[in-house]
Amino acid sequence: MAEGKHGIFTHPVLTEIGKKYGKSAAQVALRWNAQRGVVIIPKSTHRERMEENMNIWDFVLSGDDMTVISALDLGHSEIIDHSAAETAKWLNGWKIHDEKQRN
Ligand SMILES: NC(=O)c1ccc[n+]([C@@H]2O[C@H](COP(=O)([O-])OP(=O)(O)OC[C@H]3O[C@@H](n4cnc5c(N)ncnc54)[C@H](OP(=O)(O)O)[C@@H]3O)[C@@H](O)[C@H]2O)c1
Repeated sequence: MAEGKHGIFTHPVLTEIGKKYGKSAAQVALRWNAQRGVVIIPKSTHRERMEENMNIWDFVLSGDDMTVISALDLGHSEIIDHSAAETAKWLNGWKIHDEKQRN
């Protein structure tokens, strides 16, 4: 859900596509990822939103809709650069049982 950034929940493209299926922009975003085989872990503190986020299995985005949403890609991660050598080194440096590193 992009941590709620970029106005994702009111995004005009996602909202417009959602209208065709009777779904919210959030549901369209989640469905787009799920339909591509991406594991989704949306976070919400609101029960109604949790239910909304789970209610994405009764519709299928068309191929055209999938393509239009893909074109919204920013071209970079908002969190870390997964292709950077420093990131790989940092991630591979984590040891599950290394207490010193965790503290
Ligand atoms: N982002 C990271 O770097 C990162 C890294 C490791 C793990 N995680 C985990 O990944 C999970 C996803 O969390 P995230 O923090 O990245 O955020 P996210 O799921 O991308 O977005 C969460 C935000 O979206 C809002 N929201 C969720 N569903 C909504 C809906 N249907 N309509 C409107 N607003 C909605 C939430 O508000 P409300 O709570 O007010 O509903 C919250 O402000 C979490 O379990 C997190 O611990 C995240």
